[in-house]
Amino acid sequence: MQTVRKAQVNRCVVRVPGDKSISHRAALLGSLACGKTTIQDYSPGQDCETTLRCVEALGARVERLGGTVVVHGTGELKEPGDVLNCGNSGTTMRLLSGILAGQAFLSVLTGDASLRSRPMRRIAEPLRLMGAHVDGRDGGERAPLVIRGGRLKGLECYHMPVASAQVKSCALLAGLFASGTTTIVEPAPSRDHTERMLPLFGAATCVENGHVSVAGGQTLHGTAVDVPGDVSSAAFWLVLGSMLPQFEVTVLGIGLNPSRTGVLDVLRRMGCRLDVHQTRLDPEPLADVRVTGDRLSGVEISPRDVPSLQDELPVLAVAAAMAEGVTVVTGASELRHKESDRISVTVENLRAMGASVEERPDGFIIEGTGRLRGASIRTRGDHRIAMAFAIAGLVADGETVLDDVECIDISYPGFMDVVNRISSGGDVLHG
Ligand code: S3P
Repeated sequence: MQTVRKAQVNRCVVRVPGDKSISHRAALLGSLACGKTTIQDYSPGQDCETTLRCVEALGARVERLGGTVVVHGTGELKEPGDVLNCGNSGTTMRLLSGILAGQAFLSVLTGDASLRSRPMRRIAEPLRLMGAHVDGRDGGERAPLVIRGGRLKGLECYHMPVASAQVKSCALLAGLFASGTTTIVEPAPSRDHTERMLPLFGAATCVENGHVSVAGGQTLHGTAVDVPGDVSSAAFWLVLGSMLPQFEVTVLGIGLNPSRTGVLDVLRRMGCRLDVHQTRLDPEPLADVRVTGDRLSGVEISPRDVPSLQDELPVLAVAAAMAEGVTVVTGASELRHKESDRISVTVENLRAMGASVEERPDGFIIEGTGRLRGASIRTRGDHRIAMAFAIAGLVADGETVLDDVECIDISYPGFMDVVNRISSGGDVLHG
């Protein structure tokens, strides 16, 4: 349980942990590569530690040297002696399944109650089409998953049913172990970290008109990966900065991959001023971003916006409640399949804080009134819900009590220390 009170500072400079999506991929590809992969600013969150434990169970040696992780791959994985526990991490389970589908051994993957309730047929289907044996509870829909892999055949043109980077990456990773080429067609662009990272390890990919291809049988070589700050973590501070007039927040070293920057576009559309100072372009763009608070207005977030900001929607909903006017979010039904049902949990908590919100099957409508009041928040063990409502607590009148903030360690250990400093008027420089 944790109490949050209104912000007592009007300026902060924050550095966020390494990107979770990029860290997972670097560890997984490192485990497949021959030689040493050095990953700088590896995400310190529990989800990425889960991935490291899984690759260790598959035979890779991992060194944890503060913020740097070194993965020693042998170019070959071994059959794990036990069930692989993916904890709370959908990315670990779905991406690893693609890799395991290409290995000539048996793997069983499980996770916590939240992960075991999430849909898995979306990855089982393409893997089965490639020739792997994949099964799970509920007719293959839910973990634990059992995978007997082996030599796969490439997928000529697989049309993904949802715009999901996890599904795309799962199929591409399996494609590395397939005969011929595997081509995935996306209904809408999802984050492209896998496509950007494979060439760093020496594997060619081809991206054209929503088609992503990888050839099977390529050898991966260890490399160096410099992980940018996680834009999904930065979003909490940017939204905080946007909501309070006279407030200024700077977040240093954020990864601004264009497939992830929907939150910046929406904040701009809501009337917020953002100054972006780009410091690197390849292989992942990096920038310092400063936001200056102002009065926000309601905004329309349409289905085409969603893939680039889906993890940020709970905190954007907080901004919408603090804005003037109506915000409409549509095409976001995937939020119901995240670590919690993020549509209903966001709606429930915003209503507890006095916001006027209508729940829709694929989103919500928020009538912004420019204010929230402190309330008791149920985080449902979902890290992004806990962080979104800690931010709400920093702008609300009165006290906000969050029932569980431990889940925040899934992606952002140290987040509540920064919140507490902002709440108590302490200095926040590089927090
Ligand atoms: C992720 C993809 C997204 C995102 C998740 C991380 C990834 O999920 O919500 O937090 O690293 O590929 P989907 O692929 O299910 O859209």
